[in-house]
Amino acid sequence: MQIAALNIEEPNQLVSYLRGAGHLEAGESPVIRGLPGGVSNRTVLVQRANGASFVIKQALAKLRVEADWRSDPSRSHREALGLQWLARLAPAGTITPFLFEDPEHHVVAMAAVPQPHENWKTRLLAGHVEMDCLKRFGALLGTIHRRAAPFREELRAVFDDRTFFETLRLEPYYLFAASRNPGARRFLEQLIAETLATRETLTHGDYSPKNVLIHENEMVLLDHEVVHWGDPAFDLGFSLTHVLSKALHVDSCRAAFLTAAGLYWESYCEHVGEWAKRNGFEARVARHTLGCLLARVDGRSPLEYLSGPERDQQRAAVLAMMDDPPATVLALVQNFGQSLES
Ligand SMILES: Nc1ncnc2c1ncn2[C@@H]1O[C@H](COP(=O)(O)OP(=O)(O)O)[C@@H](O)[C@H]1O
Ligand SMILES: [Mg+2]
Repeated sequence: MQIAALNIEEPNQLVSYLRGAGHLEAGESPVIRGLPGGVSNRTVLVQRANGASFVIKQALAKLRVEADWRSDPSRSHREALGLQWLARLAPAGTITPFLFEDPEHHVVAMAAVPQPHENWKTRLLAGHVEMDCLKRFGALLGTIHRRAAPFREELRAVFDDRTFFETLRLEPYYLFAASRNPGARRFLEQLIAETLATRETLTHGDYSPKNVLIHENEMVLLDHEVVHWGDPAFDLGFSLTHVLSKALHVDSCRAAFLTAAGLYWESYCEHVGEWAKRNGFEARVARHTLGCLLARVDGRSPLEYLSGPERDQQRAAVLAMMDDPPATVLALVQNFGQSLES
């Protein structure tokens, strides 16, 4: 078999590859199941006869979205590094153990989260807004940001490069949204410049309920291919966008989602410590939230659950705030909530 031709979504290819690489016994035939949900990887669950299960991911060069969106598949190595470092920084049990990687095939493998588990995004969209989960989501991010900061030298040596963050976030989210909204261009270009100038701690880059599985009431965080040393305010803007867009979409739970957004931020601040109070940080969180709210409507990866009229409403709410952005997260949440009532 040609090295470059491996497609882990072809079960026969995958099994012979895994046997050849020594990750399965010779002649062993595991149960193979494709895992849906992501757009940037092939993701496959491998259940072995001995009861062990692992998940293997293979990074795609062209992402599975409508727009033409490409990113170097060598980012699978970044995910392998992310898995290993986050396991040291995040609370026990929140990161799946790293198993192996093969940069040549753009492949990385980790332990599978056991069944039964549920994707947190699915739970939220079904209207289960558990405040405790939001607080833990804030605590997890605050803990990672706080614990990583003192490892500046060591972590910068590993995660300094931001190419994947640029090709998977800055260009497709902010620049693309700016190209469709001339009125937001200056705001977004300035936000990009600030982001690039900010190098404070380990930034996850994909901190979303979609990348959280709930197993036995514990949260497990997945999907670390955009991890880099950068601007932690991005993680907050990115994740708050998911909570606020659900406040818009799930109107029967609107008040709960708005409350949840505030609790999430408070819990983050509590766990990240004094650090959250530094100059300009909260205002930057608010600006990233506006940037991401617009990007999830007009970027290369719009939120699939928002209808056309909901997208219009989200865009209008954001554009109205961009001229004079709120300085605090609570003001932003309140303002966004009010815009949904009109
Ligand atoms: N270790 C794992 N255990 C169980 N399910 C997983 C695991 N890793 C990924 N998945 C499932 O596969 C989906 C896609 O994985 P993800 O890492 O988010 O890939 P992508 O980068 O393509 O978004 C997840 O939403 C989750 O449902
Ligand atoms: Mg994902």
